[in-house]
Amino acid sequence: MAERDGGFKFDVTEFDWSSERYKKTGALMPDDGTETLKAFDAIFFGAVGAPDVPDHITLWGLRLPICQGFDQYANVRPTKILPGITSPLAGVGVGDLDWVIVRENSEGEYAGHGGRAHKGFPEEVGTETAIFTRVGVTRIMRYAFKLAQSRPRKFLTVVTKSNAQRFGMVMWDEIAAEVAQEFPDVKWDKMLVDAMTVRMVKDPKSLDTIVATNLHADILSDLAGALAGSLGVAPTANIDPERRFPSMFEPIHGSAFDITGKGIANPVATFWTAAQMLDHLGEEKAAGRLMQAIDQVCEAGIMTPDIGGTANTQQVTDAVCAAIRGANILGT
Ligand code: IPM
Ligand code: MG
Repeated sequence: MAERDGGFKFDVTEFDWSSERYKKTGALMPDDGTETLKAFDAIFFGAVGAPDVPDHITLWGLRLPICQGFDQYANVRPTKILPGITSPLAGVGVGDLDWVIVRENSEGEYAGHGGRAHKGFPEEVGTETAIFTRVGVTRIMRYAFKLAQSRPRKFLTVVTKSNAQRFGMVMWDEIAAEVAQEFPDVKWDKMLVDAMTVRMVKDPKSLDTIVATNLHADILSDLAGALAGSLGVAPTANIDPERRFPSMFEPIHGSAFDITGKGIANPVATFWTAAQMLDHLGEEKAAGRLMQAIDQVCEAGIMTPDIGGTANTQQVTDAVCAAIRGANILGT
């Protein structure tokens, strides 16, 4: 419920932590940035990145220090086909694709271990080491089983590449089987990540909740977003399930240089992300109302070009705000 209805009010502080700031000062955020953020209940993160700033600088200068610094180990990525949106998959409509991907968000392939030696020489080497810990895998597995348990189908698919990667990935499979015992009412199965891409395309209905490593889930969630119609609608929550630190909410998409400044970016991912944030903050009713407004606006065909519409960002935003007010008038 919004303040107007006797509900809550957000106290919002904005930070200019961006590629622009990096270009001016050499840092995307101040040294004490994460200290500053600790005081907040949640972080709402816009898309960052610029064509003239290397991607790894943006990632390691802002998003990863927050995710890893606040141990936001569960990255939660719901995907479904919204009303009015056409999936590129023939014959797949609303209700046929309704997934939540749980991405391990604190270690794995994004652990930051590796290095370069003999730079510039023919014998140059670069290593990139994935780190999987029993603590890290067990906690994400528990989170995923619990989430699967909370959804009507109570069904989890555990993704690995344990045929080729026989250490960390085999450990994932073993820990999945151990944690599964704590959730006897949750059905689960296992997929190798390559075969998983085929199943997502050929049999989307056969999936519900999915858990995968940091990199595997990164890739699968882009595919999921595309299959649901557009990355422009896909949301993310970076959650610290223990609530020791603020969690962070962001659209999955990046800053889309090809449409920068055109006013046609799809705001739906950001709204859906806001609904995830409301849920996390215990405002489930407001979250539901925002999702309902998004559904209504998409169903009415008020959409940006990436999902086949002709509206611009402002028009979609105005329509969502109007739908929220409309729902209020109807007393829902
Ligand atoms: C995502 C993004 C990021 C990631 C990029 C921007 C580094 O693709 O959130 O999925 O790989 O984590
Ligand atoms: Mg990604």
